[in-house]
Amino acid sequence: MTELDLRTAVAATQPGVRADLERLVSIPSIAFDGFDHSHVQRSAEAVAELLRGAGLPDVKIVSAGGQPAVIGRRPAPPGAPTVLLYAHHDVQPIGDASQWQTPPFTATERDGRLYGRGAADDKAGVMAHVSALRAYGDDLPVGVVVFVEGEEEFGSDSLERLLVEHRDEIAADVIVIADSGNWDVGVPALTTSLRGIVNFFVDVRTLDHAVHSGMFGGVFPDALMTLVRLLGTLHDDAGDVAVAGLVRGQASALDYPEDRLRHESGAVEGLQLVGTGRVVDRMWTKPSVSILGIDAPPTNAAPNALVPTARAKVSVRIAPGDNPKKAYDAVTAHLEARVPWGASVSVSLEHDGEPCVIDASGPMYDAARAAFREAWDGTDPVDIGVGGSIPFIATFQSLFPDAAILVTGVEDPHARAHGPNESLHLGEFGRVCLAEALLLRNVAQVKR
Ligand code: BES
Ligand code: MN
Repeated sequence: MTELDLRTAVAATQPGVRADLERLVSIPSIAFDGFDHSHVQRSAEAVAELLRGAGLPDVKIVSAGGQPAVIGRRPAPPGAPTVLLYAHHDVQPIGDASQWQTPPFTATERDGRLYGRGAADDKAGVMAHVSALRAYGDDLPVGVVVFVEGEEEFGSDSLERLLVEHRDEIAADVIVIADSGNWDVGVPALTTSLRGIVNFFVDVRTLDHAVHSGMFGGVFPDALMTLVRLLGTLHDDAGDVAVAGLVRGQASALDYPEDRLRHESGAVEGLQLVGTGRVVDRMWTKPSVSILGIDAPPTNAAPNALVPTARAKVSVRIAPGDNPKKAYDAVTAHLEARVPWGASVSVSLEHDGEPCVIDASGPMYDAARAAFREAWDGTDPVDIGVGGSIPFIATFQSLFPDAAILVTGVEDPHARAHGPNESLHLGEFGRVCLAEALLLRNVAQVKR
């Protein structure tokens, strides 16, 4: 196919791809504990159907004790490389339902964006793969393995087992992980570093039972004041993480203008940025600590009593080069050395994941960059880090050390993944689909 044919073919896939994306968004495939997992099963079946329909002869739903993943394969033409195309079909819970302007599981277009949970992260990633496959039909220049996971947002606990069990079927020369995003609307990117993650709980107990706050307040600390003080030690006055022993590195020279950051994040007027140093370092190559939640009496039902126990969920993003186990030990030691007032405190790990760095040099990466440049009409892609985590990239790196790993994706800075009103920029999505089709063509031409 000529480039023009390919552009035409990808464009022709768009209406159907859009309709199928809307159908995927309508399935609330949340892999978290406590949600109805029959929806994850249904979305796996829908993805399997899409892959069959896109011309993959060998499609199956697999699981290794976790939520169902889909593997679809088509053998390589003689001499051609095989490309693994990854995305995930599970989504985050919707959070505060009152904050959604349109129903989360009804894909809705407004101002060139498609709104809905998973409309970007990562059902559009699934559909970008389907679009490229449909555009080629029977003329696919490479072998493909499409791997669509069903529990990425819940920590991919069974993914390593799946990869090991199906290692021979999955093996590829190039691995495209369509679960990140671009630098800006109109500017493509290759993601070359991601932070890791360490999530844990801090439990505080100061009293055996709640007691009258008027009678005992002033001599005994309640669990919440104790917890808040303890959590307050995690940052210094400038807002930098105060925990010793965490890896801190330097990101690329890319400039992330502060006004752009403020606009993208919806920072309130006058809010100061926390931490010191360049913002890309703070977001991509230094640790951050966030308090994700606190279990405590809700204010509308809080009696005048000393709160005896409280629990916080804390999330540490760790820099590339750090190790989740070491980082957890460092934070635990930090907290245990700072327990206020002899309270009873315990720290327990919820979940962790590896950071990664990708050396994006070599002919496969050049082939990808050329595809991006073409899809964005001459705009060169930039290498970016991201502060989020895709822990299993490290697993892919160790299982397939010779494969080139391309971290791509559909998100733009306004996608609001994980938040209310998540959305996909439809214009950029078209370019992502074209870029992937061009990438498969370019990769097929790389001499190995
Ligand atoms: N798509 C994200 C990863 C990501 C985040 C890429 C930000 C680019 C920018 C992915 O779905 C995700 O959210 N991962 C989780 C991992 C966790 C469950 C181990 C995350 O980062 O919270
Ligand atoms: Mn994702």
